[in-house]
Amino acid sequence: MAITFWQWAAHLPLLCSLVGLASGDNGKLASAHGVYNSSVTPDTLPWNTYNYCNAPHVNAKHYSRPPNAPHARLVYLNTVIRHHKRTPDNLYPSENELNSAPWECADFLEFSYGGGGAHIFHKTDSPPWHPFLSQIWNGTCDEGQLTKGGLEDAIRHGQDFWSVYHHELGFLTSVNEQDIFIRTSTETRTFQVAGGVLVGMDPSMATKTFPVTTQPSPIDSIPPRYPCPRADAIRSAFQAVPAWTDHLATNTALKTRLDATLGTAGLDAWASWYDHFFDTFSSRTCNGHPLPCNSSGACVSDADAATVFAIGDFEYNYIWNAAENATAYSQLDFGVFMLELAQNFKLFRSGGEPHKLRFYVGHDGTMIRLAALLGIGKLGPLRWPALGSEIVMEVWADESQAHFVRVMHEGTPVHALSWTPLDAFIEALEHQIPSDLFAECTSN
Ligand SMILES: *[C@@H]1O[C@H](CO)[C@@H](O)[C@H](O)[C@H]1NC(C)=O
Ligand SMILES: *[C@@H]1O[C@H](CO)[C@@H](O)[C@H](O)[C@H]1NC(C)=O
Ligand SMILES: *[C@@H]1O[C@H](CO)[C@@H](O)[C@H](O)[C@H]1NC(C)=O
Ligand SMILES: *[C@@H]1O[C@H](CO)[C@@H](O)[C@H](O)[C@H]1NC(C)=O
Repeated sequence: MAITFWQWAAHLPLLCSLVGLASGDNGKLASAHGVYNSSVTPDTLPWNTYNYCNAPHVNAKHYSRPPNAPHARLVYLNTVIRHHKRTPDNLYPSENELNSAPWECADFLEFSYGGGGAHIFHKTDSPPWHPFLSQIWNGTCDEGQLTKGGLEDAIRHGQDFWSVYHHELGFLTSVNEQDIFIRTSTETRTFQVAGGVLVGMDPSMATKTFPVTTQPSPIDSIPPRYPCPRADAIRSAFQAVPAWTDHLATNTALKTRLDATLGTAGLDAWASWYDHFFDTFSSRTCNGHPLPCNSSGACVSDADAATVFAIGDFEYNYIWNAAENATAYSQLDFGVFMLELAQNFKLFRSGGEPHKLRFYVGHDGTMIRLAALLGIGKLGPLRWPALGSEIVMEVWADESQAHFVRVMHEGTPVHALSWTPLDAFIEALEHQIPSDLFAECTSN
């Protein structure tokens, strides 16, 4: 039987010293153990190893039914995933110089058209004569665009999902709009991942249409994007204390080195956290591009990238899980999504849910908040949610028709959430939703 993610994570320091990975300047940081340069986890590592490029997810080979209730039947599913790999979402001031190879996306057609119009697709081009070419890479990719490899990972994700919930359990019988409800953010890459997952479930979907639901972008709960000044203030306060500022102070030598190579000195967005360094390095390594080298030939080293990855884990865990007031922050900032989840499970309980599966495609910010508010972060530190990160909430009916929820995180049952009575699960979700969210978000 597979060990759980956190049982395995407990062995991280040992594994890291064995494979000689950097553990960061700050001894308290989690080690950046895992895969950051390929969607395929090497066979020499456990299948559920943290892979930033392509998270482990539920699949038939490693799936087991609830061991405590061998005769239980799956009756309802909610699933939330992060989109798969993409081009960098952040750009260096002199982006062009810091790419030794162009970014090519012409192998993946970007369709976007209004119903009734021609099926147009757009081709991105960075023309050599463009006066602002220094600000973007050469080639045929936009910023933050799903890559062909990302689409392939999404298709594989859909196949694996189907291998369990169709082939193994027979719960989903076919891909149809009645059984499956899909909601995404308003970002193109989340639509494209939904389309990839559908084709993985049923290859004939490649020539069919299927609706995905979105909320208006200014109030979308998925990234999340609705305004919540009260949450912003809470976060600013807990990022002004030593528990946060110490890690910035400890790593000034690293920061100075990165700034010198990448031209990011003096830019707030690159100084307040390591998010942008993390994104610009991992997007490159996940898509087979080298770490950035500048025009003098100086490159970001593997060791510095590994330290940045470890710091990224520390920052994500701190902001959404470990900081004093992190829970209050996430409850405000993600309460609208938690409300939607609670409503889904209540609708199911009342017998009024028309769908068997509600499938959400979001972002890293979606996954980290959900993991924290479900209590997964109480069991151990959370890491930066990998591309394709997955949380599945399964509802099972036992022989007496009582309903229980089992939560799967990155393909593995969450031990503490492996058999929660549905009523208790709904209560736990509701417990994370502030009572008057709009007023609380907008009050000073
Ligand atoms: C990824 O990184 C590991 C560890 O540094 C290395 O052994 C492996 O060859 C790299 N794989 C690819 C595909 O570059
Ligand atoms: C990017 O394009 C410019 C203009 O054609 C060219 O001078 C430069 O060498 C190219 N850089 C790379 C990495 O291909
Ligand atoms: C957490 O919130 C309480 C109550 O608002 C506040 O007094 C405290 O300073 C906050 N802690 C941090 C680290 O921001
Ligand atoms: C490249 O990086 C090195 C240090 O890593 C720095 O000294 C040099 O000035 C940088 N070159 C450019 C053109 O930014």
